[in-house]
Amino acid sequence: MVNIMPGYHVTDCHVLVIGSGGAGCRAALEASQYGETMLLSRTLTGKGGCTVMAEGGYNAVLAEGDSTGLHFEDTMRGGAYLNNPDLVETLVSESPDRFRDLAAWGSVFDMEGDCVPAQRPFGGQRFNRTCYAGDRSGHEMIATLTEQIRNTKIRQVQETSAIDLLMDGHRVAGAITLDRDGNLGVVTADATILATGGGTRCYDISTNCAAGTGDGFALGYRAGATLIDMEMVQFHPTGAVYPPDSRGRLITEAVRGEGGVLKNNLGERFMERYDPERMELSTRDVVSRSITTEILEGRGTEHGGVYLDVTHLPAEEIERRLPIMLEQFLQFGVDIRVQPMEVAPTAHHLMGGLKITPDAATTLPGLFACGEVTGGIHGANRLGGNALADTQVFGKRAGEFAGKTPAATLTVDVDEILSTEAARCEAYCNGTTAPHVIARELKQTMWDNAGIFRTAEELNEAEVTISRLQNLVPKAVHRRMLNECCTVTNMLTVARLIIHGALLRKESRGAHVRSDIVQNWTPEDSPFGHTVQSIFGTSIEEKGEKA
Ligand code: FUM
Repeated sequence: MVNIMPGYHVTDCHVLVIGSGGAGCRAALEASQYGETMLLSRTLTGKGGCTVMAEGGYNAVLAEGDSTGLHFEDTMRGGAYLNNPDLVETLVSESPDRFRDLAAWGSVFDMEGDCVPAQRPFGGQRFNRTCYAGDRSGHEMIATLTEQIRNTKIRQVQETSAIDLLMDGHRVAGAITLDRDGNLGVVTADATILATGGGTRCYDISTNCAAGTGDGFALGYRAGATLIDMEMVQFHPTGAVYPPDSRGRLITEAVRGEGGVLKNNLGERFMERYDPERMELSTRDVVSRSITTEILEGRGTEHGGVYLDVTHLPAEEIERRLPIMLEQFLQFGVDIRVQPMEVAPTAHHLMGGLKITPDAATTLPGLFACGEVTGGIHGANRLGGNALADTQVFGKRAGEFAGKTPAATLTVDVDEILSTEAARCEAYCNGTTAPHVIARELKQTMWDNAGIFRTAEELNEAEVTISRLQNLVPKAVHRRMLNECCTVTNMLTVARLIIHGALLRKESRGAHVRSDIVQNWTPEDSPFGHTVQSIFGTSIEEKGEKA
């Protein structure tokens, strides 16, 4: 490491992986077979992403009677046919082997009978396909991946953010970093992988971890990458609603998979009205809309949710299969063995993101992406259990294809780039508004105006608010707050991309419902394809066009 001026450090590696959730860890493991690999975490390795918090499970075709063809069809149908079929094909065909990798590395998933992985039903799937480790599946995966990383030479840099991608002409050549003390740095790399996870923290109520602020979407966008379908925001049907501090926290779909039923304040199992065939195991977009309709029409609970009830299940089964849920609700003062939970939708997952090929290549040379920061795999609505599979399938692919990138020579003046970034930080030191004040207003406007049901009027209102917030300069009262200023700037960019996508898409499809538009087509014969956004322009594909 060379100290080129006080506080500035330049480090070199073959592959830089930004983000250390499930996708980033898997990518780093693969890339490390090809050359020196650096794993950059905003928090601690494995601790900051959503994977470690993921509860329900991992979809893989393992059992007799199931097939990758069925998994493909379920995923496409669940995604309202906006998914990129090549990416889906890759996901479903490689997910079983990536599951076996985890098992071989020591992950302990629940088993049935003679060492056969147990699989539970999840919404929108015609087969019990979701493998699980109780209701702490992601934690088990991250424990395994970080253990593997300890046995490699991967260089872990923790509590350090990437605040911009390093551009060498049109090629991505690494990243500009900011450590927790506010020191700038540069990492140069032959290939860079964005594995920064999701961004639903730009909503008031969200399941995401604190780091789910969408930095990777904003970094890619500023660098000139193409993003697709950013309007597709998944609202998980069941987030906690009470006590207030727990609002939005994930109540896993596994509760419904294990037999949990949804009821309104009249005791009606209301899913009979919305999807009598699949009931509580309908797709998330449908269940979220149904719950919201019940609440809006006055059939909600005291705290503004609906009931999710497992009291009819044997107590022993709840204790064994849903231990975290049981423990969590006991802390809230609710014993789910004998009392129903109160739940309501919560922002959970961005289906849109950086456009990638099956080799995880983005539209920018030198830049790869995997996990939730990418778009196209899950279409307009993701099936529960497909995200953990996505992290492993595309994490491995990103690591492999980034690793195979030939060595490159840097031609850019790093000093000059750092001066620009230093000027940006200086501006934050002289800013006007506390970043948390900007974030609070942003989250509220996104929740109120870009939620489960949207209209052009509400979206335009959100855009006006975001424009006003973008004109404020977040203020860092000390260097340690520079990261927060960068983060809120990124959140505003992500919110704007969501709003623009939602205005561009003049139809209801999957998780995106434009209640101001009457349409006479089904998802299968929609005249529209992807929404496409980059710094060079925005558009929506008409049928037959390709982004
Ligand atoms: O409900 C859940 O356990 C979440 C799973 C997922 O988003 O895939």
